[in-house]
Amino acid sequence: MRPVVIAPSILSADFANLASEAARMKAAGADWLHVDVMDGHFVPNLTIGAPVVKALRQVTDLFLDCHLMISEPLRYVDDFLAAGADGITVHLEAEGALEASATIRAGGARAGVALKPGTPPEAILEQLDAWDLVLVMTVEPGFGGQSYMADMAAKISALRAAIGERPIDLEVDGGLNPETVLHAAKHGANAIVAGSAVFKAPDVQQAIAQLRAGAGRALAG
Ligand code: DX5
Ligand code: ZN
Repeated sequence: MRPVVIAPSILSADFANLASEAARMKAAGADWLHVDVMDGHFVPNLTIGAPVVKALRQVTDLFLDCHLMISEPLRYVDDFLAAGADGITVHLEAEGALEASATIRAGGARAGVALKPGTPPEAILEQLDAWDLVLVMTVEPGFGGQSYMADMAAKISALRAAIGERPIDLEVDGGLNPETVLHAAKHGANAIVAGSAVFKAPDVQQAIAQLRAGAGRALAG
């Protein structure tokens, strides 16, 4: 079983102070920083791109887990590699996702594939070895602060079973908090993205510790 990873999503951070937000997450015990990239086309929202990843790279040594919610990831993967992304996750529903995997790996980053709630796990079973991380969206991508979709349980379980002993992280993203993390990890998720539950918590260190402890317990069964 892969170790628990807690990845605060900077979508909920103070964008005017990203350097200190990154430092705050590092000090509070975050493993990764999750960076939500949206193009206003693949999802109905616009956020940030490679220049912000490059700026973050100058100020943090946290693993930058970049989640590309964009229609044509292949066009931009090189920019994210050059910016210093450690992991680049593209959506299976986007054009050229599988080709992007090879480019990401050749560039020295970890390749991730994300599945929207409506995409079945079977869609990637044949190509699992192309990926270092599988991201199961537990909300419709586009916005932070939505409610966790508990009906993703069967998908998480199916992917955990298919991954077996392979060195592939199983990540969940959307509506994760100290309560819902128990559900996701019980079904096999080991990498936990959390935006509002971490950034808006009165005690960030405690929030991350709670997510980590809950996920660890639930994963161990
Ligand atoms: C949604 C993004 C998420 C979002 C999660 O499309 O991919 O990473 O920031 O935010 P919360 O944890 O608030 O649901
Ligand atoms: Zn995300």
